[in-house]
Amino acid sequence: MSKKKVGSVLVVGAGIAGIQSSLDLANSGFKVYLLEQTPAIGGTMAQLDKTFPTNDCAMCIVSPKLVDCGRHPNIEIITNAELGKVVGEAGNFKVEVKKNPRYVDEDKCTGCAACTQNCPVSIALYPVEKIYIKLKDEDLKKVKPIMDKYRDQKGNLLPILQQINKEFRYLPEDILRYVSDELDVHLADIYNIVTFYNAFNLEPRGKYIVTVCIGTACHVQGAPGLIEALEGELGIKVGETTKDMNFTLETARCFGCCGLAPVITVNEDVHGKLKRADIPRIVKNYKSMEEKQDA
Ligand code: FES
Repeated sequence: MSKKKVGSVLVVGAGIAGIQSSLDLANSGFKVYLLEQTPAIGGTMAQLDKTFPTNDCAMCIVSPKLVDCGRHPNIEIITNAELGKVVGEAGNFKVEVKKNPRYVDEDKCTGCAACTQNCPVSIALYPVEKIYIKLKDEDLKKVKPIMDKYRDQKGNLLPILQQINKEFRYLPEDILRYVSDELDVHLADIYNIVTFYNAFNLEPRGKYIVTVCIGTACHVQGAPGLIEALEGELGIKVGETTKDMNFTLETARCFGCCGLAPVITVNEDVHGKLKRADIPRIVKNYKSMEEKQDA
């Protein structure tokens, strides 16, 4: 006959280990106090894309546990707090917890972030003088038609950023400031968006984006060799751009054409079933296309 568990437990740290321990303890009948120093539970795993060695989606593993933890009647989550004094001995102790202020009413906050845009500290007490950005003529010639096309449309920020990213192959800071002025959108909100989506680039990129698939099928069929060959041919490492701004070398996971593995793309062109020896020819083709255009 199982004996009803009594007593309470303190778990310090709400990363994946702390969360799982809390769930196990709470399911076995203990009252669990889960203490976390940061404002949210989840730890590093909640910030990861994939997990080693299976490449499983980190959030797919951790998010059901976050929900279980948040809803479990035996778990009390104490975030934004630090452990102070511990008095007593194993099995019978008291702890002092220092709860840091959150500056919002936790019961009412929905995390919509509207308060950051209307912060009385930055807006009312210390009004920031607006700086109007004057773009270079050649940049203005490219940006103005984009702004004119989308200016009056609802939800225009994303398409404007996409078009600028396409036109310049990245998002120059002065142009983002210009967009912020023109649309009267806070620059921080623009950076929120452009740093969230992988499709936006904040660093200049080459005319030809060479992307090597490092998904499982391509990896086992020789993607590492292709990367080595491309690094040799282009004289750059993955993530870098050639000095003449013609080539950027990147990697990505699974283009959805594993039957062609190993695969690389050069802008929109797909090159499949490659061997290392094919790389010099492919690079040469793009280099000679560039030379013809320059001639
Ligand atoms: S793993 Fe490379 S295309 Fe799928």
